[in-house]
Amino acid sequence: MNILVTGGAGYIGSHICRALLASGYAVHALDNLSSGHAEVAVGTLHTVDLGDVVGLRNIFAEYHIDAVVHCAGLINVADSMQHPEVYRTVNIEYTKSLLEEMARANVRDFVFSSSCAVYGTPQHLPVDEATPFHPESVYAETKVAAEEIIRNSAEMYGMRYAILRYFNACGAAANGSAGEWHDPETHLIPNVIRAAMSQQPVMIFGNDYPTSDGTCVRDYVHVEDLADAHVKALQYIDSHVEPLILNLGSGHGYSNAEIVAAVETELKTKIVVQYGPRRVGDPACIEASNEKARMLLGWQPRHDLASIIRTAVEWEIKNKIASLRSQ
Ligand SMILES: NC(=O)c1ccc[n+]([C@@H]2O[C@H](COP(=O)([O-])OP(=O)(O)OC[C@H]3O[C@@H](n4cnc5c(N)ncnc54)[C@H](O)[C@@H]3O)[C@@H](O)[C@H]2O)c1
Repeated sequence: MNILVTGGAGYIGSHICRALLASGYAVHALDNLSSGHAEVAVGTLHTVDLGDVVGLRNIFAEYHIDAVVHCAGLINVADSMQHPEVYRTVNIEYTKSLLEEMARANVRDFVFSSSCAVYGTPQHLPVDEATPFHPESVYAETKVAAEEIIRNSAEMYGMRYAILRYFNACGAAANGSAGEWHDPETHLIPNVIRAAMSQQPVMIFGNDYPTSDGTCVRDYVHVEDLADAHVKALQYIDSHVEPLILNLGSGHGYSNAEIVAAVETELKTKIVVQYGPRRVGDPACIEASNEKARMLLGWQPRHDLASIIRTAVEWEIKNKIASLRSQ
């Protein structure tokens, strides 16, 4: 089967491509390389912008695509507040045109990268899939809107779909071939590792939250576990008519301070932490209920926090060495 993975040169998309290849699928990665990297893409890379309808149409015409995994999009929450129209165009309008091109090409199976951001600040923990939407950023609004478009398009065009709401993706491929590579990097784990490696302080926002150590708690899920869930979701929708809407989180929260401590243990070093003020819209604690994914997909996160940190550290060391060599 041929699978088109949009955003296939990005962090999560490139790991999904690897998992699909390992499961015997043929993989086509579509990416405009705006934040993705050809170096981590596997399968056939099509350097095409999602907004290029003709480019999309050509891919569907030339290759017999059986299903689409849609990861491409803009992902920076703060940036989305500065450039709301750009985010709405890429994350909402391009999702709509992708679905239209799929329908035109008679491609019926669709898996979408959504986010726990759709829930906003949770009223109850753990967060399950029935939690009402409460988007607190333009980024989150675009995910809510895209989910709605998928529901409508599926009904209109007779599609089968999965909406997968990721919690905090992290870690890197165990074989070192891919890992987190955002610019700017806004995610905690790579930033803590980089601070440790450069012996610079790391900034943590808020240490007066009502959590065990005062710092925010988040649910970290290894990118290879996420990728595995996509393979299982594709198999699931291939044999079920009802849509699949799932949280993908580890089901366990770690505080910012616990992440710092885990990196200190892995790198056997002390990290200097600077505490800044709380950031607007940062909830104290987010933890996923992943019961539904476990039950329907038989999915189970295999990487614990130590494995997440170890693979992320190995990736950062490899990249630091590569960048030093190229200087
Ligand atoms: N990283 C996380 O923790 C996280 C959490 C929840 C949801 N998500 C979602 O998962 C998806 C992937 O996130 P990621 O962390 O891998 O981000 P990423 O930036 O590494 O990957 C996104 C990819 O999309 C590509 N892209 C962007 N605009 C495009 C366009 N117009 N045409 C073609 N390609 C385009 C980029 O070049 C990049 O390779 C996103 O939809 C994101 O919203 C990520």
